[in-house]
Formats: sequence, C-alpha cells, structure tokens
Amino acid sequence: MKILVTGGAGFIGSSFVRYVLRTQPDVEIINYDLLTYAGNLRNLEEVASDSRYHFVRGDIADNGSVRAVFEDHRFDAVVNFAAETHVDRSIEDSTPFVRSNIVGTQCLLDNARRFRVSRFVQISTDEVYGSLGPEGAFREDTPIDPSSPYSASKAGADMLVLSYFRTHRFPVVITRCTNNYGPYQFPEKLIPVLIANALSDRSLPIYGDGLNVREWIFADEHSRAVWLALSRGRDGEVYNIGSGQEKTNLEVVRGVLKLLGKPESLITYVKDRPGHDRRYAMDCSKIRREWGWESEVEFSEGLAQTITWYKAHQDWMHEIKDASYLSYYDRMYTNRDDTLSRLHS
Ligand code: NAD
Ligand code: DAU
Repeated sequence: MKILVTGGAGFIGSSFVRYVLRTQPDVEIINYDLLTYAGNLRNLEEVASDSRYHFVRGDIADNGSVRAVFEDHRFDAVVNFAAETHVDRSIEDSTPFVRSNIVGTQCLLDNARRFRVSRFVQISTDEVYGSLGPEGAFREDTPIDPSSPYSASKAGADMLVLSYFRTHRFPVVITRCTNNYGPYQFPEKLIPVLIANALSDRSLPIYGDGLNVREWIFADEHSRAVWLALSRGRDGEVYNIGSGQEKTNLEVVRGVLKLLGKPESLITYVKDRPGHDRRYAMDCSKIRREWGWESEVEFSEGLAQTITWYKAHQDWMHEIKDASYLSYYDRMYTNRDDTLSRLHS
C-alpha cells in the first residue's frame, strides 16, 4: 500500500510516519510537506534511511506541485495532516490558515479524486465543535460552531471533505482529535512552552484564570487511531478521538512544575486569548464500538515521558527557536502590561 502523508514533518504527522513504518511492513510513505516554521526533518531522522520512506517538499495549496506528486506515484490513500495549527497565530493573521487549511485541502481532494485514490483521511480537531460548559461531551453529530480563525478554517475543510462524499461519492473519512502532547511538539503550544520555560527558569504564561479545560492525548495514540481510521473507517463518516483525560491548564502547569522540581512562583497569569474556548471533551463511544479503541497512556505517565524527552533533546529545542519564532514569542509573552497578577498563588 502506498500512502501520501501530508504534513509528515510536523508534530503529529511525524508520529504517524514513525508509527506506520514501525508497525506496517507493507506500507510505503511519501511525506509531502512545505517545511513551514513548524515542519522539521529532524523529527524523522529515525526513518530517513528506511527504503519505504520518501520526502517531497511542497505546498498542498499549490495545485501544480500537488498534481505532480500524484502523477509520479499511484497512491492508495491520502492522510492530510498538513495545516497551520496554532490558534494564537490565526488570531494575528488568518491568511495562511485559509490558504493551507481550506485551499490546500481542496487541492488534495481534487487530485486524489482525479487519480482515483481509494481512501482520503482528513485530520481534523475537536475545536470545530466550539466550546463546552462544565458538563457534556462532543459527539460526532454535535453541530460545528468554531470560535477561532484556526478552527473555522478546519471546519471549512471538514465541510468540503464531506461535500466530496455527498456529491462525488469520494471515499473520505474525517478524524477529530483532542489536544495532543508528546515528543517533537513545537514549543509554541502549551506543554512544550511550559517545559522549555521551566527548564530555563523563565515565567510560565497562563492565559486568563487558567481554568480552561482540555482533554489530553499522547500523540502516538492519536497515530494509532488514525491508522484504524485509514484501515477500518467507513466512507463519509466522522470519528472522534480522545483519551477521556480532562485537565485544567493550571493542573497541567502544576504537573509540569512538580515533575521538573520547579517552584509554582514561576506561574504568571497573562491576558486571556480572545475567543478562548472554555472546555473541550469528546464522546469517543463510536471508535470504541467500531474499532475496539481504548486509550492506554495515563496523562501523568505520558507527561513524565514527554519531559524526559525534552530534557534529553534540548539541542532540538534550541535549533528550532529561530528568529521569527522568537520575535513572535516575545510579542506574545514579554509585555509586562499584560501580566494580570498571580490570581491563584
Ligand atoms: P504542526 O504545526 O506541528 O505541523 C504541521 C505540518 O504541516 C508542518 O510540518 C508544516 O510544515 C506542514 N504544513 C503546513 N502548511 C503546509 C502546506 N501548505 N503544505 C504542506 N505542508 C504544510 O501540526 P500538528 O500539531 O502536528 O497537527 C497536525 C494536524 O493535526 C493538523 O491538521 C491539526 O489541525 C490536527 N490536530 C492537531 C492537534 C494538536 O493538538 N496538535 C489536535 C487535533 C488535530
Ligand atoms: O484541541 C485540539 C487543538 O489543540 C488542535 O486542533 C490545535 O492545533 C492545537 O494547537 C491545540 O489547540 P489549543 O488552543 O487547545 O492548544 P494550545 O497549546 O495553544 O493551548 C492549550 C491551552 O493552554 C489553551 O486553553 C490556551 C492555554 N495556553 C496556551 C499557551 C500556548 C496558555 O495558558 N498559555 C500558553 O502559553
């Protein structure tokens, strides 16, 4: 089986590439990735010399280069991880989000259809459902109600993907997963920001009151579920993926500080994210029923593994903190006027 994986140099895409090459001997993977600030071929050093793995640099929103890669290979399946993924960046400028997440998905769908690919997996997110109150969980039939330009662009892509099933009977599957964490996550997302800052005794920025809730899944478990979607998903269906492990951001930051032996005085409350979703939680009974899915990694165990990895790979962290990332980081977090005070100290 030959698979086109897009965004395979990113955090979750690289986990998926490593997972599939480790567990599926008969699969060949072409990783098509633009290598934006978030893409890093060092994430794939482990598989670089595997003869079943090939890398092509390209933009999913550039129809000419997408078409060329489909002309060069006969793909059985496409798994689309490629996207702009950071909510804060989408608030600053939504342009690349619309281009990569919506136009890019459309280019992939058109070429996959033209070249008669028999399975298209779209990697989506729980954020398309919007925000929950203290009770309940998103089901696959919960109406979408995105809050940020990021989640709106992912919701737009989902709608396009489903329309290709209804209109063209094109065999698509959508997965919607909760917050991922683990090795190789770019240090702009909560957990690696906390680890990086705590390791260098810098303050840990917590938006608002720190009581927003996320459901955390270890990225390699997400990859295992995406493989099930590819091999066992039903055409035209949406599948929620989650771990059932909900945590407030304050619980997460305290967990990180405890594992690193650092003081809670490093916690700094900063201005809230505009449109900040309060709580996400997923009802995953569909994948439990259809695929026998169970999440197996406890958050405390996964967090400890993640911290061990970041401590051992500080060179990886320093290498990717390039000039553009640092200036973005400084704009976001070093404005002292934004510091609200230590509400919960
Ligand atoms: P990431 O930001 O770490 O990586 C994104 C990858 O996509 C990078 O390698 C980047 O170079 C590539 N890319 C971006 N635009 C591209 C383009 N136009 N053409 C080709 N490649 C391009 O992202 P991630 O956190 O690994 O997320 C992967 C996917 O999973 C995304 O679709 C995201 O929406 C979804 N998702 C993420 C999470 C999470 O918690 N991180 C949860 C649920 C779903
Ligand atoms: O839920 C799935 C989504 O999870 C994915 O679709 C997105 O691609 C991914 O980025 C992630 O989105 P979040 O906005 O939930 O993740 P982030 O790591 O940016 O923030 C997690 C929570 O932590 C959120 O409530 C905001 C808060 N936060 C984040 C950062 C970066 C802070 O308090 N301080 C921070 O510095």
